[in-house]
Amino acid sequence: MSDNEQIGIRIVRRIQSVIHANTAELNAFDRPIGDGDHGTNLDRGFTAVLAKIESQSDQSLAAVFKTTAMTLISTVGGAAGPLYGTAFLRISTAIPELDGDHPRQVAAALTAALGGVQARGKATTGEKTMVDALAPAVEVSNAAVEEGADTVLVLERAATAARTGMEATIPMRATKGRASYLGERSIGHQDPGATSCYLIIQAVADVVRDGSTST
Ligand SMILES: Nc1ncnc2c1ncn2[C@@H]1O[C@H](COP(=O)(O)OP(=O)(O)OP(=O)(O)O)[C@@H](O)[C@H]1O
Ligand SMILES: [Mg+2]
Repeated sequence: MSDNEQIGIRIVRRIQSVIHANTAELNAFDRPIGDGDHGTNLDRGFTAVLAKIESQSDQSLAAVFKTTAMTLISTVGGAAGPLYGTAFLRISTAIPELDGDHPRQVAAALTAALGGVQARGKATTGEKTMVDALAPAVEVSNAAVEEGADTVLVLERAATAARTGMEATIPMRATKGRASYLGERSIGHQDPGATSCYLIIQAVADVVRDGSTST
């Protein structure tokens, strides 16, 4: 149980640090096809999330991810705040604890996150959004579970699939969100939301891998 309590905050710390380190890059991806604020929005959000979680007594995964969701919704704004907020809210109910069959729970959490993003934003794959990183991560993680992969491998495969999905947004024409206003001119740019989605999944994979090798 104390391990579970620690992993939530370790995940949030790593996400905050990775988003903070990539704020300028995420803004740069958002500039040609958006309003240049995606990195700043998420940096503000995850910095607020970390502060809240550091000061809350309940460090269970359910509580940590619920606070993450609520804080992202109230501090990020724009498109990404409610979308990531909904994703983390679904994760908080899908993965209240990390007991028992971890890989299956992790794949279920990713699946729940995708369900939340799609319920909220109505985007499917190929529309040049975060769904293009998240959906392949979900598909690959569920396949990895069926093949008997452990939690670390499930998350590493998910992160690799998310990165490939992120790169695949470059030739896409955006049909959702602010970038869709550009029509054909959105082609040739990597989607900022797909980029942050990959960074977040990679951060989680790194924390879980490091935790499993150091203990
Ligand atoms: N309907 C949607 N479904 C999934 N993802 C979406 C959707 N609309 C936008 N996005 C994602 O949100 C990202 C942009 O997030 P950002 O934080 O910059 O919000 P924004 O569009 O600038 O919001 P605002 O219009 O309020 O400034 C996009 O790169 C895309 O991945
Ligand atoms: Mg923006």
